[in-house]
Amino acid sequence: MSEGTAKKEERRKFQAIRGTRDLLPPETALWNHVEQTAHDVFASYGFGEIRLPIVEQTELFRRSVGIDTDIVSKEMFTFPEDFREQLDLKRDFLAVRARELRNQLLAKAAMTSFISFTSEFVDLAGSAFSRGQIPQTAENKDSLDQIYSRILSWERKVERKEFQCTEQDWFLFLSDIVLLANRLEIGGLISLRPEATASVCRAYIENNMQQLPQPVRLYTIGPMFRRERPQKGRYRQFYQIDAEVLETVRTDAVKQDSTKELNKDAAVDAEVIEMVMTFFEKLELQGVQLDINSIGCHECRPKYVELLRAELQKVKDRLGADSQRRIETNPLRVLDSKLESEQKIIEKLPRIADHLCKDCAEHYAAVKRELGLRRVSYHENWRLVRGLDYYMRTTFEITAKGLGSQNAVCGGGRYDGLVELLGGPPTKGIGFAIGEDRLILSLQESGKMPAATRRDVYIAWMGEKAYAAAIRAAKTLRAAGLSVELPPE
Ligand code: HAM
Repeated sequence: MSEGTAKKEERRKFQAIRGTRDLLPPETALWNHVEQTAHDVFASYGFGEIRLPIVEQTELFRRSVGIDTDIVSKEMFTFPEDFREQLDLKRDFLAVRARELRNQLLAKAAMTSFISFTSEFVDLAGSAFSRGQIPQTAENKDSLDQIYSRILSWERKVERKEFQCTEQDWFLFLSDIVLLANRLEIGGLISLRPEATASVCRAYIENNMQQLPQPVRLYTIGPMFRRERPQKGRYRQFYQIDAEVLETVRTDAVKQDSTKELNKDAAVDAEVIEMVMTFFEKLELQGVQLDINSIGCHECRPKYVELLRAELQKVKDRLGADSQRRIETNPLRVLDSKLESEQKIIEKLPRIADHLCKDCAEHYAAVKRELGLRRVSYHENWRLVRGLDYYMRTTFEITAKGLGSQNAVCGGGRYDGLVELLGGPPTKGIGFAIGEDRLILSLQESGKMPAATRRDVYIAWMGEKAYAAAIRAAKTLRAAGLSVELPPE
C-alpha cells in the first residue's frame, strides 16, 4: 500500500450501516415526549412495561410470523449463535481426548474422566435439543439417546469392583462416542428480532405468566430489524411501541356461554384499539384513519382461501407476476396488492365478511358495536389481511398524514393460539405495534417541534475567586431543577 493510500485509509470516515441512523437532539426530545406519553396512556389502561432481548432463536419467528412471510423468508438478520461454537469446541475436544486415551493403558481414572466429560457434553447438547437450540430431528434424538445409553452402561461397568474390559471394548466405546457426537447436527441460529409479539409470547410462557391474574397486559418499546429496501419511513433498524394482551384459557373452568366469550373478546379488542387511538389523540397526530377487518378463524378461513384461489385462477392471466405466484403460496396476500392494473379485478373478488363462520361473524359484529360505544370511528376494509401468519379474526391498521406510501403507523390484530403454537397453554392474544419512526415523521410533517432545550441560567463569572463561587452556585441551582450553563472561561 502506498503512503498516500494508507493515509487516506486512516482518515476513512465511518458511516452508519445502510438503513440505520442516528437520532440526535433536539429531535430526541420529541422521541422522549412520545415515549413518555405512551408510558402514561398505557399505564392508565393497566399495562405494565416488559423489556425483551433483541436476539431470539430464529425458530421462534419462523414458527410464529411464518416461514412464507416476507419478514421471515427475506428480511431477517440471522447468524449462528455462540452456543453452537461452545458445543463445537467441546465436540472437538472430545475427539482429541478420545485420541489421546487410545494410546493410554486402561487406566480407570482416565476412563472416569472421559466418561464425565462426555456426560457434560451430552447434557449440554440434550438441553439445547429440548429448547430447540439445535434441530429437533429424529436423527439428533437418536444420537443423543445412544450417547446417553453408552455412557450409562460404561459408568456401571467402571463402577463394578471386579471391573474388567479389553482394549478393543474401550476403543470401540471411544470411537462410537466420537462418531455419534459428530453425527449431531448443531445448526442453532439466532436472529435480530423483526417484531416483538413472538418475543412477548415466548416471555409469557418462559416466565409462567399464566399464573398471574388474567389477562396480562404488557407493552414494550425498542428497536426491531428488517432487511428492507430503505426509503422514507422504512428503515432496517426501526423502533416499535408494542402492546399485547394475553389471557390463558382456563380449561378447568365451567365452559362459558360462547356468545358471552365472543363479546368479552370483542370488548378487549375494542379497548386495545381505543387505547392506541387515545394515545394518538394525546399526541395530536393528524389525519388518523383506522381500518378494521376480520380474517376469520381456522374453521372458516381455509374455505374462503380455497374459494379465493379458485376465483383468482380464473383471472390469472390478467394478474402481475407477484400475484400469480401468490395464488399458490398465499392468495390472501393478493388482496394487499397496490398494482394499479389489478385494482378493478380485486374489487370483484369474493369478500371474507360474506364467508365468516357464525362465531367469527358474531365476534366481528361485537367489535364494531364496542368501537361504537367507545366513539372510535373506523373504516371497514375487507382487503386488510396483514403480512404475518399468526392473526385470526380482528385485524386493524392505522394510517396518518404526511407519510407517503409508507403510511401505516400502526398494525395489529388478534392471535388466539399463538402461545400454544410456541409450546404454552391455550391462550388468547390481541395487540398492536406502532412504528415510532413513522409516528415521529408524521408529527414533524404537521409542524410538531420538539421542546427547545431550555437554559434557565447563564453564569457569567470573572476572575479565579468568582469561579469557585460560580461552580457552587451552578450546583445549587441545578439541584433546584434549573438548567444552568457555566462557561469554563
Ligand atoms: P407490522 O405491521 O409488521 O406488525 O409492523 C407494525 C408497524 O411497524 C408498521 O405499521 C410500521 O409503522 C412499523 N414498521 C414495520 N416495518 C418498518 C420498517 N422497516 N421501518 C419503519 N417502520 C416499520 C407487527 O410488527 C406486529 N408484531 C404487530 C402486532 C403486535 N400484532 C399483534 N401484536
